Amino acid sequence: MSDHLRLGVNIDHVATVRNARGSAYPDPVRAAKLAEEAGADGITAHLREDRRHISDADIEGLMEALSLPLNFEMAATEEMQAIALRHTPHAVCIVPERREERTTEGGLDVARDENRLAHFIAPLAEAGCRVSIFIAAEPRQVEAANRIGAAVIELHTGAYCDAHAEGRFEERDAELERLREMAGFAHSLGLEVHAGHGLTYETVGPIAAIPEVRELNIGHFIIGEAIFLGLTPAIAEMRRLMDAARG
Ligand code: PXP
Repeated sequence: MSDHLRLGVNIDHVATVRNARGSAYPDPVRAAKLAEEAGADGITAHLREDRRHISDADIEGLMEALSLPLNFEMAATEEMQAIALRHTPHAVCIVPERREERTTEGGLDVARDENRLAHFIAPLAEAGCRVSIFIAAEPRQVEAANRIGAAVIELHTGAYCDAHAEGRFEERDAELERLREMAGFAHSLGLEVHAGHGLTYETVGPIAAIPEVRELNIGHFIIGEAIFLGLTPAIAEMRRLMDAARG
């Protein structure tokens, strides 16, 4: 197993700032190019049904401008499937989506929706996209993701990060243990393991240290930190912490 832990930089919240004023700036495609120069291994963007941050034009711009692989996050809807099939990004990550949520609050319940999801992802995989499923660290979700033919699972680190931020350290450590176990379990089934959601400089280390995890997708914290440090140093610091944890 290659030990390089990839960093996918999620640029959604550059678009959030742009959309707050309905202006043309800051441009998420420019952020993606800068992230590329700063050492990101991939770019992640979530085209939400309500287009609250990333727009259809952003996806087109990213597909044109990027030499890095694009990880296109989307809900399992026909509209999004058609968009993904039009662009055939390197990877497609299927996430749950509810309009009223502030962010992707939980993992996808693959176990409950197995048949539909198996049919949903098949054309995406046939078109050459690596299909990833965003799930909580639960054995039945890992098993279901494997059964439907996903190539990758992305483990939701939100519960671990929230418990850390709120000082619930026992819960944090229990969640970290679940993440470790599920990374090992998924890897043993032949799934590639990614992780992300809510990661910060404080929380990234133990996740980066999980040997089966091959990629982290990180956005909100990096974009926030870029306000103070600039985007390139904010990414470089995340990279440094990932490498230190891995080493
Ligand atoms: N991974 C997935 C599947 C996500 O949906 C998100 C949020 O869009 C992230 C990673 C990145 O989370 P954050 O912006 O909290 O770093």
